Amino acid sequence: MKVTVVGAGNVGATCADVLAHREIANEIVLLDIKEGFAEGKALDIWESAPIGLYDSRTIGSTNDYSKTADSDVVVITSGLPRKPGMSRDDLIATNAGIVKTVTENVIKYSPNAVIIIVSNPLDVMTYCAYLNANTVPNKVFGMAGVLDTARYRSFLALELNVSPKDIQAVLMGGHGDTMVPLPRYTTVAGIPVTELIAEDRLNEIIERTKFGGGEIVQLLGTSAWYAPGAAAAQMVEAVVRDQKRIFPVCAWLQGEYGMNDIYLGVPVVLGKNGIEKIIELDLNDAEKALLAESAEAVKVVMNVLDEMNANA
Ligand code: LAC
Repeated sequence: MKVTVVGAGNVGATCADVLAHREIANEIVLLDIKEGFAEGKALDIWESAPIGLYDSRTIGSTNDYSKTADSDVVVITSGLPRKPGMSRDDLIATNAGIVKTVTENVIKYSPNAVIIIVSNPLDVMTYCAYLNANTVPNKVFGMAGVLDTARYRSFLALELNVSPKDIQAVLMGGHGDTMVPLPRYTTVAGIPVTELIAEDRLNEIIERTKFGGGEIVQLLGTSAWYAPGAAAAQMVEAVVRDQKRIFPVCAWLQGEYGMNDIYLGVPVVLGKNGIEKIIELDLNDAEKALLAESAEAVKVVMNVLDEMNANA
């Protein structure tokens, strides 16, 4: 299996590192526009192979997409990250141009690839890639829910002082402050979380989750990379190993949840064909209202992209 990661910044390089260490692909191409940058990161990862005991080959490329030819999966991380005070949506103008060019180049050399978007603003950059990918929507989707649920689960594990392995959760909606963690679908080794954590404390954890990306930006002055890189790698693994994992993924909705023509985070089954099924939960009225609010926030930014494209 061959996997390309476009963008050798912190998120892309971390993703490639996890892919290599876990031997998720035997060939991993890291591509960046900055001269020598991807080659350097790929070489550094390759030099850790004798220590990490893996044989995945990592290859770097400065903007030469022919090296990415016939990739099974391509992860796009290109674009500027957030600085303190910025929302993910502030990045749209710059990152839309970058994601468009990258997608066109990727698809030229790997027309059958599954494409996973990581660039922000996530939901709208996934839409941007879809508009330029000339492929089926089940092969173009975004990484957000795996990261956001990982944050939610990590906070719950801290609160309960239990293993994060035992926390299962569903989180829906856009990758922004309107994301919708769902306590009714959160369990600790099968025990409903609502039996273990009082409602007001659970609400505090949910709020922390919604602003989890911003918490890291505040601390570091730039956005996160360990958890985002690992989350993208986990989605790649589900596809290349045809695992049929159930993850919250930013997917193109055509009637599901009563929504049309929008990329939004929903639970899906991920396998070799990309999104193999969208799972429709029986949400209650309060959950539906939160999801509708999140969809509205995503639509506003999708419309900004549509207007930019109309005026281009
Ligand atoms: C975050 C960025 C990657 O949530 O969106 O950390």
